[in-house]
Amino acid sequence: MRKIKLSIIGAGAVGSNVAFLTFLYHLVPELVLVDIKGSLAKGLALDLEDGRFFLNSNTVVKGADKIKEISGSDIVVFTAGISRRPGMSREDLLSTNAKIAKEVALKVKKLAPASIVIVVTNPLDIITYVFCKYTGFKRERIIGMGLGLDASRLSNLIFHKIGISPADVSPWILGMHGKEMLVAKFTNIKGMSMGKFIDSESWRKLKELTVNRGAEVVKFLRCGSARFAPALGVKQILEAIVFDKRSFVLASIMLQGEYGIRNVCLGVPVLISRRGVDKILEVELDKEEKYLLKRAASYLSSCTKSL
Ligand code: NAI
Ligand code: 2OP
Repeated sequence: MRKIKLSIIGAGAVGSNVAFLTFLYHLVPELVLVDIKGSLAKGLALDLEDGRFFLNSNTVVKGADKIKEISGSDIVVFTAGISRRPGMSREDLLSTNAKIAKEVALKVKKLAPASIVIVVTNPLDIITYVFCKYTGFKRERIIGMGLGLDASRLSNLIFHKIGISPADVSPWILGMHGKEMLVAKFTNIKGMSMGKFIDSESWRKLKELTVNRGAEVVKFLRCGSARFAPALGVKQILEAIVFDKRSFVLASIMLQGEYGIRNVCLGVPVLISRRGVDKILEVELDKEEKYLLKRAASYLSSCTKSL
């Protein structure tokens, strides 16, 4: 098989941790970090490569301040832009990050026309849409990471509340990576409904904590937002692509009729393989859940009109 080249655009808190995990887990032989901040990416690349001996790694890491270095990439991770400060919502980042995303998407289209793009930058579902629009890539090759993180946060909160391993929890979250996210009623533990393990008020609180977890981290950090768990969310998608795992993850993708929604990027369960998204899973939702999902879609649609 041809050697996989992975480029990470934006070597800040999330980008540098994705790079570290990529190196640590030997995910690809060629890794490129790009950041407009002077020699930042170069410094990080040297530092990572200096760990070669400890990991017995052959991965080659290059840092650059020019995007042309992503040329011919098979996978591009987009983590460039600004992040939240306390009190800001993900949507407050929209105008700055949409402008950066548009410029970068046009470059990705030219320099890495066969790549699969993993979008991380917020507001996630809107920036995923910007990448679909400005690369013109098939929707299967643009994947937004956000809901996987939310699901992991929910399983962490369940672990703390009732002491059950995340391996036994199936957290189902759909919709926006934001306040409108929907924790579906069929979230379960070993196929059994949450009601068997937790009273309804505690369950309501856990869902609320999940929705607000990103903001909670921002509040404590004071400067910047979550990075370790988001980087692991990207690693989950990277592994599914690199190892052709054909496993389901929760991720944002352009919907074209699924769930009765069109031309909006929204988080749903998708099957990921070496080609990107291979299948979109349409899960059974009740009337209220369908309404909430459509409400999120129409909000996102209004946000993307002018982009
Ligand atoms: P950061 O500020 O630490 O890093 C962003 C980096 O992007 C900076 O180093 C900056 O110099 C660089 N950058 C800006 N414009 C660029 C360009 N045109 N080309 C190359 N590099 C450029 O931010 P952090 O914490 O890494 O977050 C990045 C984005 O990811 C934010 O929008 C944040 O909200 C989002 N995020 C999304 C998550 C999700 O679950 N989807 C989770 C965590 C963060
Ligand atoms: C989070 O959920 C900032 O979207 C990011 O932590």
